[in-house]
Amino acid sequence: MLGSLNVDVVVRVQRHPSPGETLIGGDPVMAFGGKGANQAVAAAVAGARVRMIGAVGDDAEGRAYRARLSAFGVDVSAVRTVAGPTGRAFIAVADDGENTIIVSPGANGAVGQEDLVALDALAPGDLLLLQLEVDVEVVGAAAARAAEAGARVVLNTAPYAALPAAVLALADPVVANGTEADLLTAAGGVPAELLVTRGEAGAVWGPLTVPADRVERVVDTTGAGDTFCGALAAALAAGLDRVPAMRAAALAAARSVEHHGAQPEPPQR
Ligand code: RIB
Repeated sequence: MLGSLNVDVVVRVQRHPSPGETLIGGDPVMAFGGKGANQAVAAAVAGARVRMIGAVGDDAEGRAYRARLSAFGVDVSAVRTVAGPTGRAFIAVADDGENTIIVSPGANGAVGQEDLVALDALAPGDLLLLQLEVDVEVVGAAAARAAEAGARVVLNTAPYAALPAAVLALADPVVANGTEADLLTAAGGVPAELLVTRGEAGAVWGPLTVPADRVERVVDTTGAGDTFCGALAAALAAGLDRVPAMRAAALAAARSVEHHGAQPEPPQR
């Protein structure tokens, strides 16, 4: 896993504000997030052996994040501590569970080519899961290095950024939500292996479709896409075929929206 680690500052609102509008929300709640770390946790919870590559700040949040990932069994030896703050995301969650997010990258902005040395250990049978919340050139270089080592690359195009077709072609699959898939199409770069997640409408990978799982009560959708990606990567790395892997991912994503925050609580030891 190469990607971002954020502390999420979450405020509940009845509805999202329009541009120029001020709304009163609830008390802020701090939670652990970041697309990279959320996906790492989801993969670990799904049973994968996970190594995280990324950066946290030299602050209390950075230290707490290392401890938390370790509690999930995630190897944090390739998570650097850099000067400055750990990344933060400011998240509004509305009564319908939908969210809006603004990310202040902090330490995530320090993830660079020098971090890719941690990929030297990759070998056939391994899988590298990537998203776009760190420098996209580093993401592209990481994908190339993993593919060269014979590892499988899974690339989540969130948050959306334009990528060279050659990078997209390295991923099996590229995972996009509906909006990101539309942006890929508009950019003229729809990859051959594209898996599109469509929330309640399920997920589609080429000719294969799996339905979304039933959700008892939507509490918070913040971590749904990340949980899908992490669980999917864990299933593919374990050797599952596409349909069972998508089913496992859809089930994990459905459960993730029934609790607050982007990650579950770590196991008690
Ligand atoms: O995908 C959800 C995540 O996006 C949040 O945890 C937040 O940190 C942002 O990275």
